[in-house]
Amino acid sequence: MKLQTGFISLLLACTACTVQTNQTGIVDNNFDFASQQLKYAFTEIDSAKVNQTEKQIANFLSYPRNIQPDGSLGLVNPHDWTSGFFPGELWYMYEYTKDDFWKQKAEYFTAPIEQEKTNGTTHDMGFKVYCSFGNGYRLTGNQQYKDIMLEAASTLATRYRDKVGCIRSWDFNANDWQCPVIIDNMMNLELLFWAFKASQDSTYYNIAVNHAQTTMKNHFREDFSSYHVVDYDTLTGAVRRKQTHQGCADESAWSRGQAWGLYGYTLCYRETQLPEFLAQAKNIAKFIFTNKNMPEDLIPYWDYDAPNIPNESRDASAASVAACALYELCMYDKEQAPQYKEWADTILSNLSKHYRATLNADRGFLLLHSTGAASYNSEIDVPINYADYYFLEALLKKAKLEKEGTAVL
Ligand code: GLY
Repeated sequence: MKLQTGFISLLLACTACTVQTNQTGIVDNNFDFASQQLKYAFTEIDSAKVNQTEKQIANFLSYPRNIQPDGSLGLVNPHDWTSGFFPGELWYMYEYTKDDFWKQKAEYFTAPIEQEKTNGTTHDMGFKVYCSFGNGYRLTGNQQYKDIMLEAASTLATRYRDKVGCIRSWDFNANDWQCPVIIDNMMNLELLFWAFKASQDSTYYNIAVNHAQTTMKNHFREDFSSYHVVDYDTLTGAVRRKQTHQGCADESAWSRGQAWGLYGYTLCYRETQLPEFLAQAKNIAKFIFTNKNMPEDLIPYWDYDAPNIPNESRDASAASVAACALYELCMYDKEQAPQYKEWADTILSNLSKHYRATLNADRGFLLLHSTGAASYNSEIDVPINYADYYFLEALLKKAKLEKEGTAVL
């Protein structure tokens, strides 16, 4: 009997080894792929730049964002809200490989984004600066990066509206909106929490917490799905309107917005330990992963309420973002951890098997099938840089969680 128990234990241990190896295998396999594919991306960038004007070259129109309707590589300059993702991918490559080749590439693509540190016309500072300089600072301790990030955080803080209790997201459409706040803005709070820790200036912490609390109060419906845009009265702070911009209807649940919310409240809990933020993240996860329109492979349609499901495009980016949050949530809710881990692993497995781009093709992107703004007929079912960035981040988080018990990079 004892022998038998021993054998069963051994068998279980071996099975665990196999599972562990396979689980780690998916990380190695995708980083091997990314290593080759991103080198190919550099050649694609160079080819796309051949016909650029002097002004475009001076503006560093060099960051791959998407594949255009004519099949060409869509490049953007540092001003675009997505500029930080490509350098962020290169930093993740450096983190994984420890190879100076990637560090040098990451530094080269990070540097031009410095100009954005004083750009107070947008809330996208976190996306641009935290994904590029933030990862660079975390991995190298470069003091210059720290100074740039502190200035960027100070600029972002100028968009905080005390009366509303939120950072103003957008300045366009000023005839309609007074103080529009979008759910995506939750992601920019990470830069403010970092600035608080780096400077000990509690203003950053307070702005981030107030923004998250106001958003929790006004952006969410009873089922914990969220509106995309909430517009506030600048003078009174009252809600003027709740609506969509990139979703299919004002009352719909735009998929990437739900993922931004999930990641946003998870990071807020990490930085504050306030239980209300953990509860919010858990409730958002429940909305997403028990949604009747979530496909079996857990890669959502672009909107959970899109009218022609199942004949709607998917959004691989929403899945990548959600996977990042789920790995971290495993640390904060031990009871639900097996479920969160299973969902996140399923996402990564399916992205790897069925959504991965072709090596040395697809303009050097890693994943296919993301959707930027179907409501504007823009970026439908194409590779987009933020899907790739969060895909690599989720892989790193998975590896770290399995090896060290923490998914915080
Ligand atoms: N932050 C804009 C988007 O998610 O498309």
